[in-house]
Amino acid sequence: MNNWQPDSWRSKPILQQPEYENRQQLAEVEAKLSKYPPLVFAAETRELRRQLGEVCSGKGFLLQGGDCAESFAEFNAPKIRDTFKVLLQMAIVLTFAGRCPVTKVARMAGQYAKPRSSDYETIEGVTLPSYRGDIINSFEFTAESRRPDPNRLLDAYHQSAATLNLLRAFAQGGLADLHQVNRWNMAFVENNPLKERYQDMSRRIQDTLEFMDVIGINSSNSATLHETSLFTSHEALLLNYEQALTRVDTLTGKPYNCSAHMVWIGERTRQLDHAHVEFFRGIHNPVGVKVGPGMQEDELIELIDALNPDNDPGRLTLITRMGADKLEQNLPRLLRRVKAEGRNVVWSSDPMHGNTFAASSGFKTRNFDAILSEIRQFFAAHEAEGTHAGGIHLEMTGQHVTECTGGAYQISDDDLKEAYMTQCDPRLNADQVLEMAFLVADHLRSA
Ligand code: PEP
Ligand code: CO
Repeated sequence: MNNWQPDSWRSKPILQQPEYENRQQLAEVEAKLSKYPPLVFAAETRELRRQLGEVCSGKGFLLQGGDCAESFAEFNAPKIRDTFKVLLQMAIVLTFAGRCPVTKVARMAGQYAKPRSSDYETIEGVTLPSYRGDIINSFEFTAESRRPDPNRLLDAYHQSAATLNLLRAFAQGGLADLHQVNRWNMAFVENNPLKERYQDMSRRIQDTLEFMDVIGINSSNSATLHETSLFTSHEALLLNYEQALTRVDTLTGKPYNCSAHMVWIGERTRQLDHAHVEFFRGIHNPVGVKVGPGMQEDELIELIDALNPDNDPGRLTLITRMGADKLEQNLPRLLRRVKAEGRNVVWSSDPMHGNTFAASSGFKTRNFDAILSEIRQFFAAHEAEGTHAGGIHLEMTGQHVTECTGGAYQISDDDLKEAYMTQCDPRLNADQVLEMAFLVADHLRSA
């Protein structure tokens, strides 16, 4: 890896960063963090990379999801549990439908830094720095809250550690038992206004589990039924934090970013000669990069080669976020070129970020049908090009928020104010996200 160092990104241009007043304090925090234990173990990230290699060759599916931005204030066990549950519920539906393993990656335990469309925000004539995520400043609209505070890197680390600890306990400790997960799904279907549409599959899953029980495969003798693995991920935007958690793995001698199993570069910071690509090219985790409708074919090939020079099948996930109205024009040309050049990547669909708009009520929202439309077009484009639709990437929560419109419960513009809780982008709520899983399942089956 020529000239790469954990800090070589520092000599490159960088976008979307806070202006810290006290650089000395920031340096002290970074020094402290760099001595803390890693949050994940390098071997776990290699396992994820192996699984993504399978996804790349069409033998698996990636389900990635969680908050747009995790928050320090809304940090509690029920919230973590509910998102975990919904991810598992979706995974069982997708596994059954696709007849292939589903790799679950949470946008959790580190999703604290946000790129913003503007550096400043003005409300009633007062202009303050934008909120950039809890690892940087605080959401409240006061000068003090919006001041970037280096100590927040330490808070983010501790909160990530506690989140991961609970996720690991849930995954191994019985909450992930497939019988239980399907019972939750049955309850979801039973209560859903469109229950006829979803009943069939949840019954068939139930039948399968009962059949396995009868022939002696059950939770007490089969760990696969009783436990699961859930990986963590976030946008690695604040490189001071990411560098401080980068460690050389003692088994392989290679550097890994141990802040999460997988990290990705956002749409706004993926310039080839900038800091984020520089940092990412040296870490050995599986990595992602967001791909918007403006991406050009040549540019994409260069980016792939910078991030995955060995053309390793599990290393790079391209997370496309086109917008339902722009996908048809932009995804096929990229699929064609990447396929023609023989580059191995996982293609995943983020149907959220290209479909955001301001509702007449003033809330930033997304519509269920537009999100579903982008996913459907994603599958159709892959089918037409002979490539593999490898995954979906959702902003979602296990809680009953009203942030996205539509779905079986027909959330309207007017309803948004009922439970609009996000600190950043609008998320699908528990019902909407499960409904999405049942609808995506149809496509996965035929793919
Ligand atoms: C995000 O995933 O929260 C995000 C900011 O996405 P993008 O970089 O695609 O805009
Ligand atoms: Co977002």
